[in-house]
Amino acid sequence: MGKNILLGITGGIAAYKTAAAASALTKLGHNVLTVMTESACEFITPMTLQSLTGNPVEVEMFSPPERFEVKHISLADRADVTLVAPATGNFIGKLAGGIADDLLSTIIMATRSKVLIAPAMNVNMYQDASLQENLAILEERGYQIIEPESGYLACGYEGSGRMPEAETLVKRVQEHLAVKDLSRFKILITAGPTREPLDPVRFFSNYSSGRMGYALAERAAVRGAEVTLISGPTALDPPPGVRLIGVEQAREMKEIVMEELAGKDAIIMAAAVADYRPADYQEEKIKKQEQELNQVALKENPDILSAVRENKTEEQVLVGFAAESGRILERGRDKFRSKAPDMLVVNDISRSDRGFAAETNAGYILTGDKELELSLRSKIKFAEAVLDEIKELAFQAGG
Ligand code: CTP
Repeated sequence: MGKNILLGITGGIAAYKTAAAASALTKLGHNVLTVMTESACEFITPMTLQSLTGNPVEVEMFSPPERFEVKHISLADRADVTLVAPATGNFIGKLAGGIADDLLSTIIMATRSKVLIAPAMNVNMYQDASLQENLAILEERGYQIIEPESGYLACGYEGSGRMPEAETLVKRVQEHLAVKDLSRFKILITAGPTREPLDPVRFFSNYSSGRMGYALAERAAVRGAEVTLISGPTALDPPPGVRLIGVEQAREMKEIVMEELAGKDAIIMAAAVADYRPADYQEEKIKKQEQELNQVALKENPDILSAVRENKTEEQVLVGFAAESGRILERGRDKFRSKAPDMLVVNDISRSDRGFAAETNAGYILTGDKELELSLRSKIKFAEAVLDEIKELAFQAGG
C-alpha cells in the first residue's frame, strides 16, 4: 500500500537525482509530497517535481491555502516518512539549531515521522567541524543520515560529499516503510561459495555469487529480523544492519554455523558448499611438471545441513537450497526427502536468467505439506517469498 512520503529539497545540484528518486517512489505507488526551499528552485523547478509526482509542490510559507488548514502542520502530520535530499550545510545547521524560518524547516520541526537527511556538498564543507557537529546532533535526536559517497564533485573537487544515486535514496525510504513482521526473529544465513585450497595459490570453488543469500539477509533485516550472515568469499557488500562473519572453507563454515546455532529461529543454508576438498594440502606451491598432472585426490567435506538437522531443536526452522537442472521438481522432491530439512528451496540453474550468478531466480519451495512454484522474479522478491514461508512454518512450529 502506498504511503505518504514528504520530500524536502534544498538548494544543491544533487537535486536532479532527487527528481529521479521522486519518480521511482511514485511508480512504487507512494504519494510523494514535495516541499522545496527557494534556493532549491534555482537548481530544479517545482514543475519538474509536480509532473513526476502528480502532486502540487509547496514552496511558499504563506501562500493562500486551497482549503483551510495550517499548511506546515497538515503536511507534517500526513508524512509516514520524510526525506530531505539534498540537504545543504546551511539547512542542516538550521535543523540542528532549531531554526524554522521557511516552510520546509517548519514542517520538519513539526513532524513526528522519521526524517532521513541526505547531505550533499563540497568535501571541505562536509568535513567542516560545525557541519559534522550538527550532523551528530541530528543523529542523536533520531534523524537518520544517508552518508554521502566519495567521488567527483560538481565543484571540481574529489572527495566525500556526493549524494548517493536515486536508487539508494529509494531503498532507504523503503526500509523505513517496510512492515517489521520479523522483529524478535533471529535468523542465521549461509551464503556464497566455499574455497577449498590445494596449495598456497590455488583452490577449488564454484560460481556462486552469494546474491541469493545476501538478498535474504537484506530483506530479513529490513523486516526487523536479527540476521547473522556466514559467507564465503563474494564481491558483495554486507547489507546494512546484518552481522557478517566471513569464512573460506566448508569446515570453517560448519564450525561457525554450529557455534551460532543456539537461539536462532531459522537457519537458511543458501551457501554453495563444496562437496569435496583436496585431500592433501600442499604447503608449497605445486610446480609445473614435465608429465601431466592427472591425479588430485579429493576428500568429502562435512555436510553442514545434516549436522544442523541433527543438532537443532524442533522449533528451529531449517531451510536448505537445492541447485538443480533438468527435472528440477522431481530432483528437488528427492533432495527434500534425503536431506530432510523443514523447507527446501529448489533453484533452476540450467538457464542464465536464474540460479547462481543471475539477478533473477525461479523455482519451487517445498515443505512437508506444500509445493509452491515461484515464477521468474528478482532475487529480492524471491527472498521475500522464501521469508514469508519461513515465517509461516515458524509460527506453526510454535515460534
Ligand atoms: N550443503 C551443506 N553442506 C555441504 C553441501 C551442501 O550444508 N557439504 C547444503 C547447501 O547449503 C544446500 C543444501 O545442502 O542448502 C543442498 O546443496 P546441494 O549442493 O544442492 O546438494 P548436495 O547434497 O550437495 O547434492 P548434489 O551435489 O548431489 O546436488
